[in-house]
Parts: sequence; C-alpha cells; structure tokens
Amino acid sequence: MSNFKKYSTYYNLLYQDKNYGEEVEYVEKLIKRHTEIPVTEILDMGSGTGRHDFVFAQKNYRVTGIDLSEEMTQIALSACVKNTEFHTGDVRSIEINKQFDAVISLFHVASYQTTNEDFEKYLQSAKKHLKQGGVFIFDFWYGPAVLSDKPTTRIKRLENTEIKITRLTESEILPNANTVNVNFEMLIEDKETGQLTKTRELHPMRYWFLPEIEYFCKHVGFKIERSYNWFSENKLSLESWYGVLILKKI
Ligand SMILES: C[S@@+](CC[C@H](N)C(=O)[O-])C[C@H]1O[C@@H](n2cnc3c(N)ncnc32)[C@H](O)[C@@H]1O
Repeated sequence: MSNFKKYSTYYNLLYQDKNYGEEVEYVEKLIKRHTEIPVTEILDMGSGTGRHDFVFAQKNYRVTGIDLSEEMTQIALSACVKNTEFHTGDVRSIEINKQFDAVISLFHVASYQTTNEDFEKYLQSAKKHLKQGGVFIFDFWYGPAVLSDKPTTRIKRLENTEIKITRLTESEILPNANTVNVNFEMLIEDKETGQLTKTRELHPMRYWFLPEIEYFCKHVGFKIERSYNWFSENKLSLESWYGVLILKKI
C-alpha cells in the first residue's frame, strides 16, 4: 500500500521550491552522455505528481509515469500535459508491453524499496522495460553519509492562499535493517476558517551502500556506468546524503 495517501494532497506545496527544471537539465545531460541510442521515450518509475515528466515533455520527450499512489497519479493526470501518460501501479511488478530508451526514478524512489527483495524486483523491472543501449538513472540515500551525518529533527513551514502547513520531521535509524523511519507530523490550518487538522505519516527509507547495489546489479544484469553525488559530477563521499547511479544493461 502507498504511504503517500494523505501526504499527496500537500506534496506540491511542500516541494514548491524544489527545482524540477534544473533537475531535468541535469538528468538529461547524464542521459545524453551515456546512451548509445536516440532517446525519445522515457519511463519514470515512481513519477509522483509528474513534475519531472512535465519538464521532459516540454522538451519533446514522451514520458510514461507509474506511481503506487492513486492520489499522486490523479494529481499528475489532472494537469493534462501533452506527451505524458500516468498510471497507478507498483514499479516492482508492472508489465508494460514496451521498452523505453531511458528509465528514470527520481527523488528517493529507490530508497522507498526497503527490502533486498523489493530492490531486486525494482531493478528487474527497470531492466525489463529498458532497451539495450539505454540507461537507467536513479537517486538514493547513500549509506556512508546517512550514518556519518545522522538525520535530525526538522520543522518546515509553508503556505498558499488557502492553507498554512507546519511539518515536523523526526527520524529514527534502524541500523540492523539499514533503514530510517521518517515520521512526518503535519499541522494544517485553513486560513479562512482557522480550522486545524493534524496528520501523521510514516515513511520507512532504506539507505544503500555501493557494494550491495553492485551485487544486485550483477545479479539482475546491469552494470554501474557511473556514480555521483546527486546533482553534481562529484564522487560519492561521506558528505553525499544523496547519490545518483547510471546503470546500463550488460
Ligand atoms: C518522494 S516521491 C517522488 C515522486 C517524484 N518522482 C518526484 O520527484 O516528485 C516518491 C514516490 O515514489 C512512489 N513509490 C514508492 N515505491 C513505489 C513503487 N514500488 N511503485 C511505484 N511507486 C512507488 C511513491 O508513491 C511516491 O510518489
């Protein structure tokens, strides 16, 4: 079941400052550098509300987005953006009768796959839907950095014309599972009525280490072409909370 049920309503507001445009520029550069085939069709695994996909579509790519959350998918569909299609589904088990020139999976979707079995199925699915010569690009929580610079309690405040949100994030590391339980508690104030609503959501996140990813890749039939600190071309280091990998089919 999706853990984005309540969160989806506030998702675009919570991440209104996230620069999807620049992230697409970055990912497009990596795609162009590492594919051996022309890229026109992209599969987005864990597409959320579709914001990367809308930017890719503006650049004339055709994008298919799959997300576990019915609510997130409905938000993506409601934008009616040409050259995009969205479906609710589990990327670990989807069967699209088609292969794409590139597969992307952005903003920690890989870390939402918390068990070895989940992650292996996620990689298998990406491989099945990727053409030979294409690339699979995804970001993830990078274990060495998560453990050396542990998650802290954070408060974020946001508002639009209708509501004010205060979000408290508290995290607990589960070192024997290589996961972090991220607890979101949100207080939502209706600006017109003053009514307050409180909601909680738990997001278990897996942090990954390169040797284990390498092992899964070999097993599934991928090779790691490059690894970087997310949104840069720097090497992964103890400061890289988020990593990005470029995989190619063997
Ligand atoms: C932090 S959001 C990122 C959404 C989008 N990629 C973005 O950048 O805004 C993580 C998304 O991954 C989706 N997700 C997690 N596991 C999934 C799975 N197994 N199959 C499909 N979607 C999944 C969640 O529903 C959620 O929408």
